[in-house]
Amino acid sequence: METRLLSLPLDQIESDALVVLSFEKENGQPVPGMAGGWIKDLYNSGEFKGKLLDTALLYKPAGLKAGRLLVVGGGKAASFGTAELRRAAGAALRLLKSKGARGIALALEAGFAAGEHVSAAVEGAFLGDYEPDRYKTEDKEEKKVVDSFSVVVPEAVPSQQEALLRSRVVAESQNFTRDLVSEPANRLTPAVLAERARQMAAEQGLECEVLDRERMKQLGMGALLGVAMGSSEPPALIVVRYRPERPAPEGVHLGLIGKGITFDTGGISIKPSENMEKMKYDMAGGAAALGAMRALAQLKPSIAVTALVPAVENMPGGRAQRPGDIVTTLSGKTVEVLNTDAEGRLILADAMTYAKRLGCTHLVDAATLTGAIVVALGFVNVGVFSNDDPLLAKVLAAAKAEGEKMWHMPLDEDYKEVLKSAFADIPNVGNRWGGAITAAMFLKEFVETTPWVHLDIAGTAWLEEAKPFLAKGPTGVPLRTLVRLALDWGA
Ligand code: BES
Ligand code: MN
Ligand code: ZN
Repeated sequence: METRLLSLPLDQIESDALVVLSFEKENGQPVPGMAGGWIKDLYNSGEFKGKLLDTALLYKPAGLKAGRLLVVGGGKAASFGTAELRRAAGAALRLLKSKGARGIALALEAGFAAGEHVSAAVEGAFLGDYEPDRYKTEDKEEKKVVDSFSVVVPEAVPSQQEALLRSRVVAESQNFTRDLVSEPANRLTPAVLAERARQMAAEQGLECEVLDRERMKQLGMGALLGVAMGSSEPPALIVVRYRPERPAPEGVHLGLIGKGITFDTGGISIKPSENMEKMKYDMAGGAAALGAMRALAQLKPSIAVTALVPAVENMPGGRAQRPGDIVTTLSGKTVEVLNTDAEGRLILADAMTYAKRLGCTHLVDAATLTGAIVVALGFVNVGVFSNDDPLLAKVLAAAKAEGEKMWHMPLDEDYKEVLKSAFADIPNVGNRWGGAITAAMFLKEFVETTPWVHLDIAGTAWLEEAKPFLAKGPTGVPLRTLVRLALDWGA
């Protein structure tokens, strides 16, 4: 999809479809919009109230060169921000695409046309455009495609053009992540994920190193290797590095660790078959870390960033680890594996110890770690855990600016009481209560004093039902937060 920034009167726009935003009435009066007279009739009809994502489609309105005019509700003008705009742009694109429009122009009014608004519109369009339909063989010829998406602004300034290019990189990287996540586990094994990472790194000029089973044995990554035992697919620890040309003086080195379980059967503590097919998305954290690196390679932050993705398939094969097994982690701590389905924390423990050895000064991990976070926060918020308030504040600020909803969860030492093993240093599960917190507590034991934020994305990395602005399936969360965190560091 081509993207353009235009500054033209709306009646001069020649695209298949022109999109304008219109807000809810205030004090009974329609909020003045750019689209003039039609809007008034629309409101008077009562069919359109301007509620967020309300739509009304008009064909060949008089005086316009565009073939269609799509009015999209923006909700209350006072609460309309970039998050709402991103969704509105996505919804507009999806609706018009379904109707066969190939060229779309979205108009931003004065007051809503800063760089951040241009970014949100472009991101919304690219994210809305994405469909996880790679393996559908029907109708390829009739497949609808949008060729161009333009943002129309009252007055074009260079910062908007920059914003457009930047957001395009971010959104395409987010779709790269979504492509990886939607791959089924027979087509995306740990080895294939590693190969995709290598290829991406080569294209983007990043360093990539993949540690194989032998190397991990030498190093002593017993927790990661224990999870890999039950599968005939060999594990891989993917390391992708970005080094800034002019490093920031503080010498910050951010480690992005992403859970890369290419399929989670649960292992010997096997999961019920209902919904098990969804466990192909158990590598969404890893895919987000790789997608973030893809974007950062092009956007060039001033801090060093290393992504580490432990890629493993959790299977119940004949050599699988058993409940009760005790493994020695890279840190030297021993873990009693009480439940083989709590495998994410095992692979992350070794990856985070290794990240510290590589010199990472700050760690952020993203993981589809627990069903318990879904019980706590549903599909709306990412669960955020941290041992460091300044880093937590940076992550939450980045998330807010990017419209990725996150909720800070507790991590009091009191929760550690349930992590007691009679036979090893720590068990890999607590009891059934506060499961997302005790999982984070387990990770904290391996992070030790390094500033760290853990993002539990089990409820937010996958969309159960399509939204007007997003297809069903992988969301790419929390890629935008990770990218902005690195870009804004120290700024
Ligand atoms: N990958 C799952 C968590 C998950 C659940 C992700 C639902 C996405 C949707 C994780 O490995 C897991 O199985 N966690 C267990 C932990 C339990 C055994 C302590 C869980 O949440 O049930
Ligand atoms: Mn599991
Ligand atoms: Zn898992």
